[in-house]
Amino acid sequence: MQKILEIENLSVNYPVSSGLFNETKEYIHALNHVSLDIYKGEVLGLVGESGCGKSTLGKAVLRLITPEGRVLFENKNIMDFDKKEIKAFRKNAQLIFQNPFSSLNPRMTIKEILREPLVVHGIRDKKIIDEKIKNILNMTGLNEETLTRYPHEFSGGQRQRIAIARALILRPEFLVADEPVSALDVSIQAQIVKLLLELKEKMQLTILFVSHDLGVVKYISDRIAVMYLGEIVEIAPAEELFKNPKHPYTKALISAVPTVGEKRNIESIKLEGDLPSPKNPPRACKFHTRCPYAMEICKQESPKNIAFSKNHFAKCHLYDTGILREN
Ligand SMILES: Nc1ncnc2c1ncn2[C@@H]1O[C@H](COP(=O)(O)OP(=O)(O)O)[C@@H](O)[C@H]1O
Ligand code: SF4
Ligand SMILES: [Mg+2]
Repeated sequence: MQKILEIENLSVNYPVSSGLFNETKEYIHALNHVSLDIYKGEVLGLVGESGCGKSTLGKAVLRLITPEGRVLFENKNIMDFDKKEIKAFRKNAQLIFQNPFSSLNPRMTIKEILREPLVVHGIRDKKIIDEKIKNILNMTGLNEETLTRYPHEFSGGQRQRIAIARALILRPEFLVADEPVSALDVSIQAQIVKLLLELKEKMQLTILFVSHDLGVVKYISDRIAVMYLGEIVEIAPAEELFKNPKHPYTKALISAVPTVGEKRNIESIKLEGDLPSPKNPPRACKFHTRCPYAMEICKQESPKNIAFSKNHFAKCHLYDTGILREN
């Protein structure tokens, strides 16, 4: 399989000031040495509790923030791009956010919103613009009457369709969808997830789909990466992750997803307490403060990335001691 994105040893530390006179400089360790490949045409789900660094990773791979480490997009390091290359990259790699209302300019009509990215990227011919707008409306299930109206006239689901249309009108290859359905009613969530899957097929998109909700990620992802305090603790094909989760944190997230009728064969783990502060994260295995299996070694040494199959990896000491190897 061809890689579209290679993320190598990516870290982001946000500086923050505190104290009465802002005299204390601290860092929020939002992303810690993350390495990950994304393959052409796949949906990679990225899941973890709020605050664990998902949006930071999404922004870093689009060069909206500057991380340490390397991100190769189609074999080129995006950190080395010159102005022209950045512009081409912006056309090719797009972002949609959780809140479709705040991301759409309230003073622009839908037509102006959809036209803007085309004009920015040098498309001036009115006929071509109209053609592209008509085409993307079709693909996103919107009609032409939409064009003269303003964002506030639409429901949350419709606004997210408009945001998707705007992100895809330039025909990018890669899309970061950051909690795209989290602000929507459950009944609407399924429609938008379905739309993204359809568009992925039609446009041969690659999608990094970010969500705190494993139940949502399950339906759209080919593979799922589980993140905890800035680290990927497990990654596997979606079905494999649900059937055969290895990391206790993954098991806890799965335990929290409601089941309808079906019975799960994995042990249930209840997640206790809050996410520790990324300013001062626990050392070694960062999950040790909440893990029901924590052992002495978990507080002393970071677990290695263990391969369970060609594309299933997890970081947990339970497996290097062999205790639960076959579990
Ligand atoms: N611009 C920023 N400046 C300082 N801290 C930030 C900034 N953006 C995010 N953070 C912090 O980094 C951590 C990870 O945030 P984020 O990537 O948004 O997580 P998620 O998307 O998983 O909720 C959080 O503790 C958050 O408060
Ligand atoms: S390394 Fe230890 S603390 Fe971390 S998840 Fe595994 S058993 Fe739990
Ligand atoms: Mg986020």
